[in-house]
Amino acid sequence: MYTRIRSTGHYVPERVLTNQDFERMVTTSDEWIRARTGIERRHIVSPGETNLDLCEKAARSALGAAGLGAEDLDLILVATTTPNQVFPNMGVLLQDRLGGHGYPCTSLESACAGFIYGLAIANSLIQTSQCRRALVVGGETLSRITDYTDRSTCILFGDGAGAVILEAASEPGIIATHLHADGAYKDLLYYPSGISLGFDRLRESRDFIRMKGGEVFRVAVNTLSQLALETLEAAGVTSTDLSWFVPHQANLRIIQSIAHKLGLPMERIVLTIADHGNTSTASIPMALDVAVRDGRIQRGQLLLFEAFGGGFTWGSALVRY
Ligand code: UT7
Repeated sequence: MYTRIRSTGHYVPERVLTNQDFERMVTTSDEWIRARTGIERRHIVSPGETNLDLCEKAARSALGAAGLGAEDLDLILVATTTPNQVFPNMGVLLQDRLGGHGYPCTSLESACAGFIYGLAIANSLIQTSQCRRALVVGGETLSRITDYTDRSTCILFGDGAGAVILEAASEPGIIATHLHADGAYKDLLYYPSGISLGFDRLRESRDFIRMKGGEVFRVAVNTLSQLALETLEAAGVTSTDLSWFVPHQANLRIIQSIAHKLGLPMERIVLTIADHGNTSTASIPMALDVAVRDGRIQRGQLLLFEAFGGGFTWGSALVRY
């Protein structure tokens, strides 16, 4: 029993923040942001718009592309670090929005690697015949935990959601997934407060994402390069066999460094960072859907997904689309 990607979908909120908007908010420049990150604009939710709204639209887009409804699913996994509420989990809330009943739904909190973790878990459940068709969503409203007075982080993050429908198939599909984590790096990228620690311990008003950008950058490049080699080697393929590399869109320079180490031309990399910014766990399914819908990604092609983020958590998936 194997798992294949039946369809994809994504949604970004209408409101856009450009680099020029940030020039009016903090001491920065369009030139610096483009040169250091590759980002030109990012989509941001409007007041009252929530992560669940984005996830619902991405899920409906993937269901629509497959001609399926919520009743055709038997699992929903939502990867996110910005859930609407603590519980019910985002999977359950999404199931209710879509009109599904009875089958298992949950959410995964693994920062930027969350979608890859979700893909790996859904793949395992399908391969062991515990379900036949799964909706896996990565959705974030990072703007709700971003400090718009901190120029070192605020220019990076955006909001959005991406979704895939996975289903049982007689051929792969998902060829392999590789997951990793190392909590020793927990202080390099994190959100400081929560239910059990208490909210708003460090500031009078709200807490925000904290990141030691330079250190995260260095570990990300080394770790993701190793992970790509590990994934390709384990599957007995090389970077020349890849049709498309669909990386987590955190920083164009990180992606360029990995491409250089793999000997992969930039023309075979799906890049959405200029338009989406860093949307954490939503970035891979969003980039995937963009390239599927514009015709770059075709059936039968070999794809590599890779993500790295807070924790640190990181993971990859090698997929025959
Ligand atoms: O999503 C998963 C995990 N996240 C990542 O993978 C992000 C990894 N890190 C990064 O992408 C980069 O480290 C950043 C884009 C966050 C920062 O780029 P950098 O090239 O590492 O810059 P830096 O932090 O070393 O700062 C260089 C200079 C500093 O000034 P001084 O100390 O040299 O005078 C910063 O204060 O750039 C300054 N700076 C800015 N200047 C203009 C920092 N942010 C800005 C800004 N505009 N927005």
